[in-house]
Amino acid sequence: MRRRKLFQKERTAQYDYIVSHEQPLSFVAEAFQKALVNLEYVNIDGNLKVIQFTSSLAGAGKTTFVSNLAYLIAKKGKKVVIVDLDLRKPKINRVFKAANENGLTDYLAGRINYDKLIGYSEKLGINYIVAGERTTAVVNVLEAQKLKDLIARLKTEFDYVLLDSPPVIAVSDALYISRLADGVLFVVAQNEAKRAVINEALKTLRQSNVNVIGSVFTQVDLKENDIYSYTYGYGYGYTSSDKEAFEEKE
Ligand SMILES: Nc1ncnc2c1ncn2[C@@H]1O[C@H](COP(=O)(O)OP(=O)(O)O)[C@@H](O)[C@H]1O
Ligand SMILES: [Mg+2]
Repeated sequence: MRRRKLFQKERTAQYDYIVSHEQPLSFVAEAFQKALVNLEYVNIDGNLKVIQFTSSLAGAGKTTFVSNLAYLIAKKGKKVVIVDLDLRKPKINRVFKAANENGLTDYLAGRINYDKLIGYSEKLGINYIVAGERTTAVVNVLEAQKLKDLIARLKTEFDYVLLDSPPVIAVSDALYISRLADGVLFVVAQNEAKRAVINEALKTLRQSNVNVIGSVFTQVDLKENDIYSYTYGYGYGYTSSDKEAFEEKE
């Protein structure tokens, strides 16, 4: 069953493996690179500094995508920070093999200062902010003025502020986060997501006037597409109209 497959994946998920770093010449790394080129094209005026990554359901590949994209951005000499705003399922700490301590919720609650908040990976060249101590008041956190102020400050200090976020369906967190972002990238796991679910998520985003700047297709089954039998694949797609993008999807 689909859902079980997703949960299995979550259990076995490996986050300390940035394929763009470990296997820069692989097909997958190449696909990430292309996704960045597309993003830069959409962002030709440089107006999109704070970018949110969301999807319809969990397990689409947001955290994986945001980490690889950050690595490629950093490699180009740009200053990039990832903020873990998926407060219910934080994973950014695992990407950087860091403890989920001294994070966003700790900063917002006044337990730590700004100078303790931002971690840095020498190996990957990426700055990151982990989620921090678990809270049940997620919406309060996401609506806090202090969070808005923090994002505004990060914007002045970094070229890109990438917001890892929860999916759209099930909780409203992603919509609150979208108010902090200049644009939203919508991640679709090609093998998992049903058209109706994708459309529902996109409708929700549209109704909230969210600026969806593109969509990224992950976990593309390359065997089906008759290329090579990679078990790990990336597709990508950008369009100005999401309707068009999903027209061919079943
Ligand atoms: N393009 C991909 N192809 C195959 N598996 C992927 C891909 N992207 C992510 N995964 C795997 O899918 C699972 C969920 O990915 P993750 O990035 O945590 O998704 P999300 O953050 O959207 O919940 C992980 O096990 C990850 O390794
Ligand atoms: Mg995630």
